[in-house]
Amino acid sequence: MTTLLEPPNQTQLAGLTIGKVHINSQVLLAPMAGVTDVVFRGLVREYAPQSLICTEMISSNGMVFSKRNDARILDKGTSDHPIAYQLAGHHEDVLLEAAEVIVSHRQPDMIDVNMGCPVKKITGNFEGCALMKSPDVAYKLLSALVKSVDVPVTVKFRLGWDNANKNYLEFGQMAESAGVSMVTLHARTRAQGYAPGCDWDAFGVLKQALTIPVVANGDVTSLEDARHLIATYGVDGVMMGRAVQGRPWLIGDMDAALKSGQPLKERSLAEIIPICLDHARRHCEYVGEAHGIKEMRKHLPWYVKGFRGASEFRARLTQVSTLLEVEACLNDILKAGQ
Ligand SMILES: Cc1cc2nc3c(=O)[nH]c(=O)nc-3n(C[C@H](O)[C@H](O)[C@H](O)COP(=O)(O)O)c2cc1C
Repeated sequence: MTTLLEPPNQTQLAGLTIGKVHINSQVLLAPMAGVTDVVFRGLVREYAPQSLICTEMISSNGMVFSKRNDARILDKGTSDHPIAYQLAGHHEDVLLEAAEVIVSHRQPDMIDVNMGCPVKKITGNFEGCALMKSPDVAYKLLSALVKSVDVPVTVKFRLGWDNANKNYLEFGQMAESAGVSMVTLHARTRAQGYAPGCDWDAFGVLKQALTIPVVANGDVTSLEDARHLIATYGVDGVMMGRAVQGRPWLIGDMDAALKSGQPLKERSLAEIIPICLDHARRHCEYVGEAHGIKEMRKHLPWYVKGFRGASEFRARLTQVSTLLEVEACLNDILKAGQ
């Protein structure tokens, strides 16, 4: 079922209002564990100063029981704003304590609760998408959190546990009645994992049922996708994940293009390579070169993916050990692409 709505009005185009927080952008960066760390967010932020950016998922159990409030995952840069810190958890006291520590030590603009993670380690612990199987527990957690923190609380969830249990509509209504200020729907079930086949029509169903902002997530990769989702379903924003891997400029470019009505900026390999190198340098400054390069190995191929000749360098890029090797490899890719 496709729900055709009027094209977005100016208020929608100006951004989205999440509780008391106004965000002057409709394009959001998805939380991605192991990807959207403080360094990557810093790069995204340079191109997208106004967009809402989310941290990686943070385990409330991990935070509270380890008593380490200085863990890397909690770090925030000076320009890291507006930002949502995403928490996972199912013990009310623990979730509330973790949120309170984050709010008082990190000054986030909002707290997002992960109720969509499909990974067994998380769902087996009755966190992430497992909470979609117990909306009453989810309601208790969300309403308690809304009462205990003075920043807006948002929630990200999926279509449901599996095809036979698609309860996103009731779940969204539950979240709204718990006092949540925005919902993000990843239009797949837990059983789908990341397999192709998002049900974008679900955005229209949810949008029509809720008064709080609804953000669309799942396979949004282009400006056309964003325009289509906003115009067809009236969603308040689009959240992009994997399309931003190796493309930290994309959130900002999408935001600028949506606001101006202009096409998306094309970026050449010659422009991209210095950005990639800058990412590697910053990451090494943050965690040290040996560890930093190891962690960068997954990011590097994303930057050059799709460019002529780049696939031949994939193996080399994933074996680099120093910044000099990264630079040499990127220069060779540039030469091969010319
Ligand atoms: C590597 C990776 C890590 C992710 N980590 C999280 C996470 O920590 N919290 C979360 O809510 N979703 C997480 N997700 C899901 C994304 O936020 C997003 O919902 C999903 O990738 C679909 O959006 P996309 O098609 O734009 O990538 C992750 C996805 C990927 C690929």
